[in-house]
Formats: sequence, C-alpha cells, structure tokens
Amino acid sequence: MTASAVITGWGFYVPRSVLTNRDLESRIDTTDAWIVERTGIRERHIVSDGEATASMAANAARAALDRAGIAAGDLDAVMVATTTADHLVPTAACLVQEQIGARRAAVFDLGAACAGFVYGIAVAKGLIASGAARGVLLVAAETISRFIDWSDRSTCVLFGDGAGAVVIEASDGRPGIRGTVLRGDGTKRHALWVEGGGSLMVHLDGPSGQMYRLRMDGQDVFKLAVPSMARACEEVLAAEGLRIGDVTLLVPHQANLRIIEAVGKRLGIDRARVFVNIERYGNTSAASIPIALCEAVDQGRVRPGDLVLMCAFGGGMTWGAALVEWSGGVLATGAPGLRDRARSQLRRSHGALDPR
Ligand code: UT7
Repeated sequence: MTASAVITGWGFYVPRSVLTNRDLESRIDTTDAWIVERTGIRERHIVSDGEATASMAANAARAALDRAGIAAGDLDAVMVATTTADHLVPTAACLVQEQIGARRAAVFDLGAACAGFVYGIAVAKGLIASGAARGVLLVAAETISRFIDWSDRSTCVLFGDGAGAVVIEASDGRPGIRGTVLRGDGTKRHALWVEGGGSLMVHLDGPSGQMYRLRMDGQDVFKLAVPSMARACEEVLAAEGLRIGDVTLLVPHQANLRIIEAVGKRLGIDRARVFVNIERYGNTSAASIPIALCEAVDQGRVRPGDLVLMCAFGGGMTWGAALVEWSGGVLATGAPGLRDRARSQLRRSHGALDPR
C-alpha cells in the first residue's frame, strides 16, 4: 500500500521590523487609503541587516519540527521553495540543513515563485509515495524586499518578507495530502520578473542594479491569477470527486485581497471559509500559504478531518492547488522506536538518499 503524506508539524517566522502603510506614505507618493482599498494590506515585515531567506527559513523549520515532535537529524529531505535564496550557490536548503542540523537529509531548492509551496507539497507527496523519503521538511521563505524597486509605488507596497514550514511524514493509516494540480505558462513570464542575476544577464562590472529589481505588470498578473487559481481548485476537487461545499477552509496565496475575493466568488465559497491575513504580512510570495495555514490552525479554523484547499499563483507564470485532509499533528506511529524501524527499512531500499 502506498503511504499517505501527512502534515505533522507547522511553524512560521517573520522579521521583527514592521513597515506600515503610513511609513510608506512618507517615502513615496501613496496613501494608506489607496493601499488598503486596492490590496487589503496594512503592514508587512521586512528583514533587518544580516537577516535573509535561510535564517528565516531555519526559524520556521525549528517551529515546525517542534510541533511534529521529530528531530532534524531524522529528516530524509529538506526542500526550500524560494526565488530569493541567499546565494546562487549554495541553495537555501543547504544553509537551512546546516542551521537546523538535518545531517542525513537530501537538500534542494524549488523555484516556482509564489506557487512554490503548492509545488513543494506535490514534490513531498511524491517523495513519500515513491518510498524515497518518510520525513520531509518543506519550507517556503522569501526576502522579496531586497529585490524591490522602492521608488515603484505599484509594486513596493505589495510585498513583505517571511517564512513558513511544514513537516510532512509518511503514514500507513492517516489521511493527508489528497491531491495537487500544478500548472505554468512561460509565455507570460514578463508579467512578473527579475531580469538580472541569472546566466543570461550577469554584469559583473559597472552599475546594473536596476536589472536585479522585481518588475511587474500588476493588471496582467491580476487578470491571469483569478481564473487560473479558481480552475486549479476546481480540477483538484474534481479529481477527488469532491465539490467546493466539501471544503472546510480555502487558504489562498495572499497576493491581494481583491484577487482572493474574486477567486472565492468564482468558486462559490462563502467568505467565512476563506482565510485572509494579508493585512498584516502583505504578499510574502511562496511563504504566504504556510504562514496563513499556521495562523488558521492556531486559531482553530482547521480541525482533524477537515479539508483544506490551498491555491497559489506567481511569476513564471506558475500556479496550482493542493487539497489536504487535515490530520492534526503528531503521528500515532510517532513513537521513536516505530519511526526508527521504518527509517532503517527505508535506508535499506533507498540507500542513495542516506549519505551515511
Ligand atoms: O503573487 C503575485 C504577485 N502580484 C500580484 O498579485 C499583483 C496583482 N495586481 C495587483 O495587485 C494590482 O494590479 C495592483 C495592486 C498592483 C494595482 O492595483 P490596480 O487597481 O490594478 O491599479 P492600477 O495599476 O490600475 O493603477 C490605478 C492608478 C494608477 O494611476 P492613474 O494612471 O489612474 O492616474 C496608478 O499610477 O493607481 C496608481 N497607483 C497608485 N496610487 C497610489 C499605483 N500604485 C499606487 C500606489 N498608491 N501605491
């Protein structure tokens, strides 16, 4: 029997420093009223000097591991969904591995912009279903603030920094990740992009700062985001023989309150079953869904047996949806003896994942 992939731990981290709409009013030609009306955002968290994606990711990871009740050394894979890793090489996942002590884990980053967490859920499910891993740490972390053009009022008001993490474990009996739908469209890549920093545009000499800034056609993104996210949700539900009425809570990417409301309307889900926290964090890209998921669980909005539907949309363009039957945390099989036995079986059949 194929093992199910169960979320057993969750946690998030945002930087201490808060940038309010009022703060922005004193820097650019904008108003708190415009930002709230057009986006729903009131404030966002921004990294301080010395802080970046991997350190935020490691903080979120520690919280998720604590909640799952497992040690970092027991993880088989550490995956970081990000487009703002600290370096081109190494990956953010390597830095997280070092910081949390996940000695024997496979480590890699996943690049799918704001849809990175939903993509990561699918990859974690696949690793577990194939038997390649029994314990996966998925972190989504972004430091978008360092790539923002702070003179461009149509983008700089939107984004914030942060990280969210989940531990996903194999289980033979518990429900877990039911299904995922992943999509993309490279023809729309210019709607949201960072031109420089990759192999096509490396300028090692001279002033070239502007090409490292995030550029966005907000209206294009808006128009693409709403139908794509709604369709992905419908597809993932249809594949499971379910309807939107079966969903307890929709946890959408927190990009813009108007986008969230439009997706909810298309799906026909009432507002009370849509989780929103964009007012306090802004758009934290890939990190927005796990941050929202953590808050939803902590507020008692998600209980064991509930169906949670997540959907995201981002640069690339990439989008997708994931449907999870919430299990409520630590596995019944979480006793160390049982976990160790399962892992030694895994090591025998998948030695490649275990560097020892
Ligand atoms: O994870 C995916 C990431 N991206 C997104 O989710 C972005 C999706 N798009 C959006 O959220 C919205 O398109 C924005 C919030 C970016 C813009 O809202 P909009 O309602 O589409 O505004 P607009 O671009 O049509 O601009 C309307 C007006 C313009 O002025 P004029 O030309 O009508 O005089 C803009 O210059 O609003 C102006 N404007 C602003 N005014 C005050 C744009 N940004 C601001 C601002 N403050 N910050």
